[in-house]
Amino acid sequence: MQFSTILITLAVAFSPALAAPTAEPAAGEPTVAALEKRAVGVFVCTGQNFSGQCNHISPPFNVCQPFSATGLTGYQSWGPDQGTTCLWYTGGSCTGTQSGAVNFPGYTDVPDFWKFNTASFKCWT
Ligand SMILES: *[C@@H]1O[C@H](CO)[C@@H](O)[C@H](O)[C@H]1NC(C)=O
Repeated sequence: MQFSTILITLAVAFSPALAAPTAEPAAGEPTVAALEKRAVGVFVCTGQNFSGQCNHISPPFNVCQPFSATGLTGYQSWGPDQGTTCLWYTGGSCTGTQSGAVNFPGYTDVPDFWKFNTASFKCWT
């Protein structure tokens, strides 16, 4: 709990978007920084060991994404590119329970809790 509180405190300090979780981010207007970072992202697959249906996604960084932004209906492996970190959330708009930081190389077998409960996520570099 204490660790989560620290993470949230840090996230709020560095991410103005988190301070107003109900506000809809300007998704259609990526910043120059976001555009420059399009070459990185997350490799996500429906099966373990990066099998099944896979997508390499480069969502706007530091902006909460609904799980549907993966383009998949579920996932069992999640691999941030080198230098990319993600957090998963049980609620929409990055609310609810927050995961620990997910860094490269990620998970070949995502913890069951997150396989079944990830409603939204956020990544940054
Ligand atoms: C994933 O890889 C591990 C280690 O090689 C293996 O034990 C496991 O059976 C694999 N899972 C699937 C679904 O292929």
